[in-house]
Amino acid sequence: ASEDSTASAIAKYEALAPSLPCFDSNGGATRRKHGGFWYPEHLLAPTLAARDTFAARPTDVILATMPKAGTTWLKALAFAVTRRRLHAPDDPRHPLLGASPHDLVPFLHTVYEEHRAVPAGPRLDAMPAPRVLAVHAPFSALPASVSVPGSKCRVVYLCRDPKDAVVSFWHYLRKINPAGPGSVGPISQVVDQCCDGVWPFGPVWDHMAEYWRASVERPEKVMFLRYEDLKQDGAGTVGRLAAFLGCPFTDEEAARGVPEAVVALCSMDRLRSVHANRDGVHGVGFTVFNNSAFFRKGDIGDWKEHMTPEMARRLDDVVEEELRESGYLL
Ligand code: A3P
Repeated sequence: ASEDSTASAIAKYEALAPSLPCFDSNGGATRRKHGGFWYPEHLLAPTLAARDTFAARPTDVILATMPKAGTTWLKALAFAVTRRRLHAPDDPRHPLLGASPHDLVPFLHTVYEEHRAVPAGPRLDAMPAPRVLAVHAPFSALPASVSVPGSKCRVVYLCRDPKDAVVSFWHYLRKINPAGPGSVGPISQVVDQCCDGVWPFGPVWDHMAEYWRASVERPEKVMFLRYEDLKQDGAGTVGRLAAFLGCPFTDEEAARGVPEAVVALCSMDRLRSVHANRDGVHGVGFTVFNNSAFFRKGDIGDWKEHMTPEMARRLDDVVEEELRESGYLL
């Protein structure tokens, strides 16, 4: 897309945003509803402008998640897997030990959000193949060049138990809110938002179901992963990811323990200790905050520490009920 068409698409959606249904979240960005999904207001125009103008290359890899599903981790893993011929995962000068996964694998919406300062087209053109980019957009709001049946580029979706994502999001809001943790309401409010479908880029069930359906229809181009699988079988899941991305681990690599080295490089402890992840900053738009907000516990079932059984049951029931129709198995 030309710089003019990108700028005019952004301007068009910025002008549209104030007329869209609004949800004022307590402690997070205001959300606006478009095409059945709730966008953080500042990400609506960049997401939809990318949908309208981004031209995918056949070699592109698009990582898709809902916020707090493990985006940072997936970015690191996909980068390490696709770049391993240039940068061995046990190399002490590996890029992931010098920069945030969010800088190495940018969000497409961030590239568009920054367009006025750094034009998106040339920035994207300069990325080496395979370009690895991330989105929170629902499948139905992906650029057509990514989602049409004939598209050659690959999409990897990572989902996570919504209860753990809710807990993660609540902690994250408390860390990033410029007014301090006390300005964020109790966790029950985040549970309510998730159950009411106004979760950022939600409803969660529609987000999951769209990608689930796409992965069933085009399994060779859309992969559906779960955070829990990555936790329980890191090397095995990374092996499946590499195969899906068209760069399977060779027998020789498997014998040398390369999949395990990728998992170790991208582990929470290793990434958390990287200077850029400890002290670097993230963000434009809503707020600027320390990258350490992306690394907390990374546990399965942490919701038990924070939610009452009633909250958990309510959330489970809503999500299950909504997903039943889609044939998605939680
Ligand atoms: P918790 O808050 O439950 O610990 P996102 O990257 O989508 O914002 O998701 C953040 C969640 O992923 C946080 O979950 C964070 O701790 C976890 N996470 C970040 N890096 C991780 C890693 N290398 N391994 C496992 N989990 C990770």
